[in-house]
Amino acid sequence: MVTGPIRNFTRSNELNTKLHAMIPAGSHTYSKGEDQFPWLSPKIMARADGAYSWDVDDNRFLDWAMGNRVMILGHNYPAVNEAVKRQIDLGLNFSRPGMLEYEVAEFLLDLWGWPEMVKFGKNGSDVTTAAVKLARAYTGRKYAAVCGDQPFFSIHDWFIGSTPMNAGILEEESRYTLSFRYNDIASVEALYARHPGQIACMILEPVKNEEPKDNFLEKLRALTEREGTVLIFDEMIAGMRFDIRGAHHLYGVFPDLVTYGKAISNGFSFSALAGKRDIMELGGLKHDKPRVFLLSQTHSSETVGLAACKATIEECQRIDITKHVWGVGKRLIDGFRKLAHQEKVANHVRIIGFDCNPQILCTREDGSYWPELHTSFHEEVISYGVLIPWITITYSHRDEELAKTFEALQAGMRKVKRVLDSGAAVESTFTGPAVKPVFRPYNRCMQGTCGRLNANAPQRPCCQENVEGVSK
Ligand SMILES: Cc1ncc(COP(=O)(O)O)c(C=O)c1O
Repeated sequence: MVTGPIRNFTRSNELNTKLHAMIPAGSHTYSKGEDQFPWLSPKIMARADGAYSWDVDDNRFLDWAMGNRVMILGHNYPAVNEAVKRQIDLGLNFSRPGMLEYEVAEFLLDLWGWPEMVKFGKNGSDVTTAAVKLARAYTGRKYAAVCGDQPFFSIHDWFIGSTPMNAGILEEESRYTLSFRYNDIASVEALYARHPGQIACMILEPVKNEEPKDNFLEKLRALTEREGTVLIFDEMIAGMRFDIRGAHHLYGVFPDLVTYGKAISNGFSFSALAGKRDIMELGGLKHDKPRVFLLSQTHSSETVGLAACKATIEECQRIDITKHVWGVGKRLIDGFRKLAHQEKVANHVRIIGFDCNPQILCTREDGSYWPELHTSFHEEVISYGVLIPWITITYSHRDEELAKTFEALQAGMRKVKRVLDSGAAVESTFTGPAVKPVFRPYNRCMQGTCGRLNANAPQRPCCQENVEGVSK
């Protein structure tokens, strides 16, 4: 069913069954799982270098996913790897704080400018959850409000409990997690009206796919200040891409706490929580208030992540990564849109978002996401050796990579045109099942909200099937 040269996934398929027998979901990150990709795709990767990765069948892919957006320079980047190798010989984890902790703290605080203190973690969820805990301790309030238009803030119960995939989480855990809309200051005001004096924090990515409108960030800052709520910006994705110091620097709106992770250390495990001293110090030894247990982890100060972070940021400064990322992204978006018009699929295969952080969306005519079309399109693109489920621009993505991407995208768009012109059921135009949302209550669900459990959700065939433990 695909026209590209990459069709042999024999070894991937052989290993995949045992992978699922050993590891729940066959993956350590749901977004990398089998239900997120077309069946005709690499299931197990063997190695990666620069902008490319190879699967266990030795198929080579141009990689725009870069793990979960954890690269900014590219796989196997020499300056970072060398810094890490040097550090390994100097020791991994000391019995008291290491000099590198001091140096990286000073380096990052100098870079970011406004935060007065910083604490390190190993992944994003460590630091977003720590920020929420600090905010609750600081304000003595229970409610945390998240931006409901943004998909993910933490693996921890306070957040996952508020998603449809909440089995095993006490209802009490997420009872105090509220939601507001991006660019909708009225939705923030409505929360304050419903829970006056009770909201500890608001957490959001300062910018995602759309510009803040009508001074949304300034108004949010003013409202949170008026209400005594801690404002937390999550710079996990936006930081390093919009601006090496974090996207909020572009808008000149400064939160109380800020979190960084992902590409900040070019793939090594490292994250940081930074912010105002009076809040951060609650996790310290120099106060008489109740003590906050703040990110005390065996591996928080493991030196590899610290060395990788410093080397990554220094290299990004040296090469002016911001200019590169915005430039490549603009060319990708312009080329994509030109192709989509040329192939007459612009209403179905779209690219949205900022130049530095674009996103491909396969949609119905009305703009709504179409998972079956997504699967059909990506199956074809993958057969031309391009893995682009999401877009992570790195320093290793250059002219050659753009040319290869456009060739694969064109093939994918031509397939979409053929599929739509033929009038065939889109689900019959690819091998295997369509991709599904990560956050869904049952594996069989095709949508995030089960029509069996929620009267307002659309009734899909999967809503009618018998589900263990759920009466109709
Ligand atoms: C915006 C945002 N915040 C937090 C996280 C959590 O980071 P981690 O997966 O490193 O725990 C993610 C992960 O995808 C994210 O995208």
